[in-house]
Parts: sequence; C-alpha cells; structure tokens
Amino acid sequence: MLSYRHAFHAGNHADVLKHFVLVQLCRYLGQKDKPFWVIDTHAGAGLYELDTGYATQLKEYADGIGRLWTRPDLPAALADYVDLVRACNPGDTLRFYPGSPWLALQTLRPQDRLRLFELHSSDSKILQENFRDQGRQVSITTGNGYHALKALLPPPPRRALVLIDPPYETRDDYSNVISALQEGLTRFATGTYAVWYPQLARQEARQLPDKLMRLPIRNWLHASLTVHTPSVDGFGMHGSGMFVINPPWTLHQTLEGIMPYLVRVLGQDAGAGFTLSKEGD
Ligand SMILES: C[S@@+](CC[C@H](N)C(=O)[O-])C[C@H]1O[C@@H](n2cnc3c(N)ncnc32)[C@H](O)[C@@H]1O
Repeated sequence: MLSYRHAFHAGNHADVLKHFVLVQLCRYLGQKDKPFWVIDTHAGAGLYELDTGYATQLKEYADGIGRLWTRPDLPAALADYVDLVRACNPGDTLRFYPGSPWLALQTLRPQDRLRLFELHSSDSKILQENFRDQGRQVSITTGNGYHALKALLPPPPRRALVLIDPPYETRDDYSNVISALQEGLTRFATGTYAVWYPQLARQEARQLPDKLMRLPIRNWLHASLTVHTPSVDGFGMHGSGMFVINPPWTLHQTLEGIMPYLVRVLGQDAGAGFTLSKEGD
C-alpha cells in the first residue's frame, strides 16, 4: 500500500537541494553534443500546485523554494535552478513547483531522452497528463523504478544520469537503493547516479551514506544539508543528502560555494549546517 504523495512536500528544503544538484548534473551532461538519457526511477507527479490541494496542508515549500523565490542575491548556479522554477510560474507569484521530471526535461536537447518510472497509479496518471505531447523524448512507465535499471542499462548513448529518489516510507527502500545501485553499476559502471536520502533519526537513514560509500565505486560526492536540530522525540526530517556516483569534476567546487548560502537562507535554528565530501577526502 503506497501512501506517500510528494505533493505534500513539493518545493521543501529537500527538493531544493535535490533539484539544484539535478539541474547541475543535467547541465554538465549537456555540455557535450553526444546525447544522454535521464532515468528517473521515482518520478512523482512531475508538477505540483502549491496554492491548492495537498501542498497547502503543510506548506513545506514556504521554508524551501519560498525562501529563495524573492532573494536578490542568489549565486549564479542557484539562480539557474530558481529560474527554471520561475519558468513554470506565469506571474511573480510562486504557484507551481516543478518535480524532477519537469526540471530535467527543461535541460534536455532534442537528442536527449527522459525515462520516467512511477509506481503510484494516481501520481503516474497525473505525470502522464503533465507530460503528454512530448513524443519519443519522454517515456513514462507505471511500475517499479528499481527494475528500470535492469531494463534500461546500459543506455544506447552510453551517457546517462540515473536519479534514485524513493519515499523511504519503509525500510525496504534503504536496501533496495543499495541493490539497485549494485545492479546498475555492474551493467553501466560509467553512469552518473544521484541518490537522495532523508536525514531522520531511524538507523537505516543514518547508515545509508556509509553503505553508499562502501559500494565498488572510485568516484563519488556526498552533500548534506541540515536545516534544524533533530527533534527530541525523534520524529520528522531535519535535513537531507545527495550522494552522487561519478559526479562531474566541477560539482564539488560549485557546492563549496552554494552550501553555505543554503544554510544561511534555509537554516531554521543553530543546528543548521552542511557537509560536503568526496572520494579521497
Ligand atoms: C520522493 S517522491 C519523488 C519525487 C520526484 N523524484 C521529484 O523530485 O519531483 C517518490 C515517488 O516514488 C514513488 N514510488 C514509491 N515506490 C516506488 C517504486 N518502487 N518505483 C517507482 N516509484 C515509486 C512514490 O509514489 C512517489 O511518487
């Protein structure tokens, strides 16, 4: 039984970190003429309304994209991502927040492809409505994204970004991420893989970064953004992280500039902070 709906959380601090990194990864792949694929194993609904429905209940976007929306001092790399969010908002008001499929699609050239997987039938239906008329560039499968790696890797152009962004509703997601990566890396060792994970009190979440680092990989980057002190009762998410396998060489330097800014703007108390590390540190 799937209960997670990303619409409750769209545009929160975790989406900001994840989607900023996603845009950076796509931009880098787009620097060479050769085509690339983006495979989004947990795509969500693709685009979210912020002023109606689920998003209005918790208003998580207010402490995420909402805090960046009117900033006049955005660093250039972050402004690139915020400009993409602006592109799906017709006026000055923040009313829509794009999900990973929408953001990735904006960065693609005609020769690139987007392969989307979403298991929840309702979100998959919304995703299909949001992405109709995209022709062969976009394909949407209602199904298990972990199986996508077996089916699609290696991709025909031998250049791809795989975004793995599960809901972590159950502890299976933690082990599934590791086994999907083991499978993916066996089939396509040179691909770029980006895994998002939540910072939670639960043991599986705390152990995931170490497990990712122990995969048979030579090149990785890990960035985490904590927005507040963990709650005393152990409930709730106090931050999140992105673990990137085979990152662009430019990403570490870009994040060195951006992470302190994100802590300043998105931090909610003295417990806010970031970590940034890479293979060999
Ligand atoms: C965190 S949300 C994805 C958000 C999206 N990647 C974004 O950044 O806009 C996780 C999504 O994964 C879906 N999901 C859960 N298990 C799945 C699975 N095994 N395969 C594909 N999708 C799954 C959920 O229904 C949910 O929409």
